Amino acid sequence: MNDPANLELGLIGLGTMGMSLLLNMADHGHAVAGYHRDGARLQRIRAAALPNLHGFDELAGFVRALRRPRVVMLLVPAGAPVDSVIAELLPLLEAGDFIVDAGNSFHRDTARRAHELEPWGISFVGMGVSGGESGARHGPSMMPGGGAHAWERLRPVLESVAARADGEPCVAPMGKGAAGHYVKMIHNGIEYALMQMLAECYDLMRRRLGMTNAEMAAEFARWNDGRLQGFLVAITVTVLGTPDPLGAGELIDAVSDQARAKGTGKWTSQEAMDLGVPVPAIDAAVSARELSALRAERLQLAALYPGAPPARADRAAALAGLEQAYFAAAWIAYAQGFAQIAAASREYGFGTGLATVARVWRAGCIIRAAILEPIHAAFAANPALANLLLEPAVAAALAPAVAGLRATVIDGVSCGVPLPALSAALAYFDGMRSARLPANLLQAQRDHFGAHTYERLDRDGSFHSEWGRE
Ligand code: 6PG
Repeated sequence: MNDPANLELGLIGLGTMGMSLLLNMADHGHAVAGYHRDGARLQRIRAAALPNLHGFDELAGFVRALRRPRVVMLLVPAGAPVDSVIAELLPLLEAGDFIVDAGNSFHRDTARRAHELEPWGISFVGMGVSGGESGARHGPSMMPGGGAHAWERLRPVLESVAARADGEPCVAPMGKGAAGHYVKMIHNGIEYALMQMLAECYDLMRRRLGMTNAEMAAEFARWNDGRLQGFLVAITVTVLGTPDPLGAGELIDAVSDQARAKGTGKWTSQEAMDLGVPVPAIDAAVSARELSALRAERLQLAALYPGAPPARADRAAALAGLEQAYFAAAWIAYAQGFAQIAAASREYGFGTGLATVARVWRAGCIIRAAILEPIHAAFAANPALANLLLEPAVAAALAPAVAGLRATVIDGVSCGVPLPALSAALAYFDGMRSARLPANLLQAQRDHFGAHTYERLDRDGSFHSEWGRE
């Protein structure tokens, strides 16, 4: 048999995600190849027995088999592995070729790599991919950066393998440079916030309302049938209903309550602070995971400061409030994430279209949810919208739900069930709708102790005062 030639795309990194994406491409009729230096790892490619799917354990042959300009996609762990694969590839590629990093890389690394590859004439494209293994296999949401030139070359393959919403593929160019990885980072920040908010609802249902796993699963299922429909709500139903294979009852009760994180949520918060954009619901979610990890201290403190939340009698009223709370808080979490994308796009010159981001998040990704339809409509109608919460249609949906969020937060505070992300969302909302905040006092204090100056509401200019003496 002749060696394969003119293949559409080659993929390096045949782990779960890479393999699933490669099989997805082959299923859609693209002639593609996977590379792994360990030939044994090519077993799944051989087992698939597809005439348009090829495996290589030799890098030069793999690169030679690709059509020019070549596209090599990387699905390797973020960090040093990406740099070492690039270093191996570089002598084999030529000007005009593309390297697409489809891992969860940090956007500043992506910008650096693109810059380093520029003199070689190689376009380095950072692309966010969301949806886990099943998404990669059957239709992920994809967020490529790298600008229009890269999109032109990648479009046919990406559009054919992406998830679809209303018949439209959930992939589109996110903007120039590292925009793709930036948008994926924000996706994960919102993911952290929504997951934490759902965990807080679960905590109130369990500890305050005394609901069983089956009752909670039924309640989340009801949510998923309505305006709260979304992937994370749906998997919460599944999780709560899964029996423990190693014991009695449901598996969820045996799972350790210490959350781990790979870092994308933390990056979102760190980057938001660098830009000066408030994303407190995401910050709270990151901190809540860190706090959960302090289990030894928590156990000691639980003994030192005992007191279980009292049971609440009016379950129906509490659940009605909780449904509103998650609805309102989810709006606020997305609003914070989109505000950060807008600020980053201005700062880094990405040129990211917010409506486009909402469009590709409607299916395939982890934060896909019914709410993304009105979010998409809001940014499509007004691409320059400074904050999602300013859109009249959003206000009409959100305002009536704030009472439930407030009642839920009050309930959590009153009984000692911590609701950090829900509380942070409410405080953001209350802060953003305050025509007057107490920051005048901060400014006065700064000027008092450090002569940092302040501005006045009634005239232009910068002022310094001898406080207490004037
Ligand atoms: C996705 C997920 C995916 C991954 C997260 C998990 O969009 O498919 O976000 O990227 O599951 O990185 O992140 P943590 O390990 O930090 O929770």
